[in-house]
Amino acid sequence: FDTKTPQYKNDDRRSFAWPSARERWPVILTQAIDDVHRAVADSSDADARTEGKAIIADLAKLKYELQHDRTIMPLPDDGLPDIAGYNKEIEQRNNPSWFSCTWLFSECYMYRRAQTYFNLSKHWKSYDIFSRSKISGFKSSRPAVIELASQYKDIITELETSHQLKGAKTEDEIAKAEELVFMEMCKICLWGNKTDLSLLTNITSDDFSRLQGAKAREASEDKILVNDLADAFQVLYKAQKSGASERRVDFVLDNAGFELFVDLVLAGYLLAAGLATTVVLHPKTMPWFVSDVVPQDFIGLLNALRDSNNFFGASAEGQPAKDLSADENGLIGFLFQNWSNLHAEGKLILRPNHFWTEGGSFWRLPATAPELFEDLKESELVIFKGDLNYRKLTADAMWEGSTPFAEAIGPLGPGSGIRVLALRTCKGDVVAGLPKGKDEELRKTGDDPEIRKWAWSGEWAVCQFFDGKQ
Ligand code: F6P
Ligand code: MG
Repeated sequence: FDTKTPQYKNDDRRSFAWPSARERWPVILTQAIDDVHRAVADSSDADARTEGKAIIADLAKLKYELQHDRTIMPLPDDGLPDIAGYNKEIEQRNNPSWFSCTWLFSECYMYRRAQTYFNLSKHWKSYDIFSRSKISGFKSSRPAVIELASQYKDIITELETSHQLKGAKTEDEIAKAEELVFMEMCKICLWGNKTDLSLLTNITSDDFSRLQGAKAREASEDKILVNDLADAFQVLYKAQKSGASERRVDFVLDNAGFELFVDLVLAGYLLAAGLATTVVLHPKTMPWFVSDVVPQDFIGLLNALRDSNNFFGASAEGQPAKDLSADENGLIGFLFQNWSNLHAEGKLILRPNHFWTEGGSFWRLPATAPELFEDLKESELVIFKGDLNYRKLTADAMWEGSTPFAEAIGPLGPGSGIRVLALRTCKGDVVAGLPKGKDEELRKTGDDPEIRKWAWSGEWAVCQFFDGKQ
């Protein structure tokens, strides 16, 4: 269940793994240490402070081992079932050093190792080192949140009152209108992935506004290198027409804050349009890759919408406090009502699983998480959000750019019985399913055609679908 194609490694100067391991990860660990420092200073409990200081020392040790290219150490047993798998794999890989290891495994290991310290503590078990940055990132997304809240309200109200979109009369027109809105919603959902916090360590409020609005999306239209959204729509549309009463769509989530917000925009649309009857969201079970969703982030998002003025009106990174208007509060209140109702009615469900934070790729899904694999087969469409999920789908292997997507996803490809839709802005080397010659053409835009640098910045994207059939 592993690919034979070699994976990207941290000692490859041509891969984004190289600067990631040497520059980005130490910064991420330093920020985590600073965050715990602040929390220790804020705590009035002496025991918690002592424990917090020990966690800071452990995180500093982890950073030291990484920066000095030490051997990757076995994980301490924190009682969770994935530890044995990590440690077995370290052994099978002959105890590699940080920089000689594969990119995907060592990066997952880093976040998992950091989490062991919290799991093994008494006072810090549920502490999220990334929570502060997730919250401030979401606050800075205020302009885009308001813009989308307004569009969302219009569409949902229209669907709820007339059960169809404006101007559409015949069956064909209705299908076409639904398809157009579906594609638009998917693109909103796709580009919401551009602003994850692991790449943009110094992002300002202005950056958020620039990257997230409708204008940015229009300008990015020709940056979608593969667009299979029409195929994904057909799957949901046919299922709806078949009259099946239970039709599920799954989201394998990526980042909290604005990206989760746009995931809910798409989820809410699918439910209101009848393209799905249930939406299952798959968050991580622990803080992961800086901004990934944990269940607490979903609750946090709803709370932020409920208290919209307190949340978005407060000062954000570099921006003074500014109250929302009554209209703006009303729009966000609509979203809060709509999404909390869907959640309360059981139409919007959260289903965490430890599989998502294992060190291997999704090629292992049938072997290491057979129940989850069976569960996902029940879904009409499984949407994988973001870069890391794409790296895991394709095993983070060095595919030729034109390798068929169905081949690169291995056991989730032909015959899997799972319908996969990847919505990914490219922030790493791996890519598959491109038209012949496209990768070569894009490589020439950089200073070294040996390097796939065009794929590192989140500027380009793919929406790739495979139907899971033989
Ligand atoms: O370069 C890739 C990276 O920064 C990795 O840390 C991680 O794979 C990913 O991007 C994070 O992005 P996303 O939140 O879209 O998965
Ligand atoms: Mg992420």
